[in-house]
Formats: sequence, structure tokens, C-alpha cells
Amino acid sequence: MNNIQKTLSIIKPDAVERNLENEIKEMFLKKGFHILREKKIHIEKSEAEKFYKVHETKPFYNDLCSYLSSGPIVVMILQKDNAVLANRNLMGATNPKDALDGTIRKKYGISIDKNSVHGSDSPENAQIEIDFFFKD
Ligand code: CDP
Ligand code: MG
Repeated sequence: MNNIQKTLSIIKPDAVERNLENEIKEMFLKKGFHILREKKIHIEKSEAEKFYKVHETKPFYNDLCSYLSSGPIVVMILQKDNAVLANRNLMGATNPKDALDGTIRKKYGISIDKNSVHGSDSPENAQIEIDFFFKD
């Protein structure tokens, strides 16, 4: 049975900075994702802190928020059958060293913090994250 879902994807500053936007989008399109909305933005650290609030007790929280607000990012709403899991699979493991061949993080990730992409981890969080960036 079909289970069409939406998920939020972010191309992070390390990838935008290296002009990998089109390559990464191509990987999504090849896997059958539809890019419903997209925008390139540069967020304030205070916005990154809200977006990553779930991680506020983690030791990497401050650096993570500085990093996400350090340069332009591309935020996208992706749609596909089982999009949340399909995106996580295409992204690969958080640490690019552990990511499997064929994943975005294996191909483009630099390190655990500069890992090129964000993806929602559940349908519930996908809706929250989509609303965060695409309120209208
Ligand atoms: O992005 P993902 O869902 O795979 O990982 P997460 O556990 O939700 O962590 C969010 C982000 O924090 C990661 O994508 C990394 O950029 C960063 N992080 C880090 O810098 N150091 C860690 N030990 C773990 C995560
Ligand atoms: Mg996560």
C-alpha cells in the first residue's frame, strides 16, 4: 500500500559552500523524491537554536547551532512513498565514516558535524520541521 509522506531536508552550509546543491538534489530526484518547495536562506543562530532544541542538552548543541547559522542553507520539502525513512536511508549515518556507499553523507560528508544534510527522523517531526521553515 502506498504511504506518501513529506519530510524536511536541509542542505547544510558545508555542502552549499562547496556548490553541491545541484548534485545533492539530483540524488533525491534519482531516488524518486519530488521537491515540493525549496528556498535558500541564511538563518540566525537563535533560529538554529529553536530548530535543534531537541538537542539542547547535548555537548555539541552550541557548535551545531553556530554551524547551521554559519552560511546559506537550502531547505526543501521532499515527497515520496515513505519519504521519512527513504530520506534517512539516502542520507546515510550521522558520521560520514559510518555511512554506506551510495549515501549522500558517504559521498559528500566531511565529518560528524559537517555532514552535508539534515533529514527529519519521524513523520511527526517532519510536520513540525516543515511548519518551522514553511509556515504559510
Ligand atoms: O542529523 P542526524 O539526525 O543524523 O543526527 P542527530 O543525532 O540528530 O544530530 C544532529 C546533528 O548534530 C548531526 O547531523 C551533526 O551535524 C551534529 N552532531 C555532532 O556535531 N556531533 C555529534 N556527536 C552528533 C551530532
Ligand atoms: Mg536528527
